[in-house]
Amino acid sequence: MAQKNSLFPNLNSNNNGVSSDKTELFDKKGNSRGFYSKKNRLNDLTGKEWQYWSKSVINKSYPVNFQHKLRNQHGGQKPPQLCADLIQFFTKKGMSVLDPFAGVGGTLLGANLCDRKAVGIEINKKWVDVYNQVCKLENIEPQDMRVGDSKELLNKEKNESFDFILTDVPYWNMDKVSRSNGKFKKADQEAKEKTKSNLSKFNNEVSQTKDEWLKDMEDIFSLSRPLLKNSGYMAVFIGDMYRNGKYHFLSSDLANIIEKIGFTPKANLIWYDVSNKLQIYGYLYDFIPSMIHQNILIFKK
Ligand SMILES: C[S@@+](CC[C@H](N)C(=O)[O-])C[C@H]1O[C@@H](n2cnc3c(N)ncnc32)[C@H](O)[C@@H]1O
Repeated sequence: MAQKNSLFPNLNSNNNGVSSDKTELFDKKGNSRGFYSKKNRLNDLTGKEWQYWSKSVINKSYPVNFQHKLRNQHGGQKPPQLCADLIQFFTKKGMSVLDPFAGVGGTLLGANLCDRKAVGIEINKKWVDVYNQVCKLENIEPQDMRVGDSKELLNKEKNESFDFILTDVPYWNMDKVSRSNGKFKKADQEAKEKTKSNLSKFNNEVSQTKDEWLKDMEDIFSLSRPLLKNSGYMAVFIGDMYRNGKYHFLSSDLANIIEKIGFTPKANLIWYDVSNKLQIYGYLYDFIPSMIHQNILIFKK
């Protein structure tokens, strides 16, 4: 009978059949994290962790921490631990991350959690002040957070100086456009009002058409691309929207624009936000989704 693996002898294996380029890692409680291979070029994860984090749906429950109440004034903030989980998949310890739409600093706090460096750019000083206050209260060394418009500030960064881009785009603000159409159904109006009340918290954005919003995104991602190292990854949070009686596939519109800029699409991860309450909008007369997920688009340079 043929020996197991005889066609592919593992010349480097130890007595346990584990290749010697692999080391077993343990968490702080002493539980095995699985085996880390020295050949891992992307991250510091073990095979077991890699398998877990390459799943297409994220349904982990994230803690409400890091002065959540303070950061919640923003309305579009992301859990720092979720950001850390993403950063840890796409970088190694000590590497650097860019967020051109930094808000109250979900990405930057995430970078602290996993010992990475981060640069954030946020146009609204109020959110930068909240970020700095959170760092002070949590006794965290603030990352490099800058106030300004990414369209102006990204030009000043050195090419290929970041290992990963993690960002969360400003929402398409179509309020004025939709109001001027003046023909909302009640449920549609309710869905709009709920989102508006959240979003107006984080920006005094003027209303735009979808094309204007996409052009803004195109400009900023075009400026961001040269700053990313070759073969580096970018992850972009984007929620789809239901407005004016129809569903807007914003994730797909945005993905097409980003691909045209020269990024290669790699995945659309679904973040199922378990903390989101179910809403009821079109009950008894129309189907209107209660949005409890966001897309995280993954691209490679
Ligand atoms: C969805 S929020 C990001 C929230 C962030 N992930 C967090 O955890 O706080 C998008 C942010 O982009 C900012 N923004 C919009 N246009 C910008 C621009 N041109 N330059 C820099 N920041 C911008 C908005 O003020 C908003 O805070």
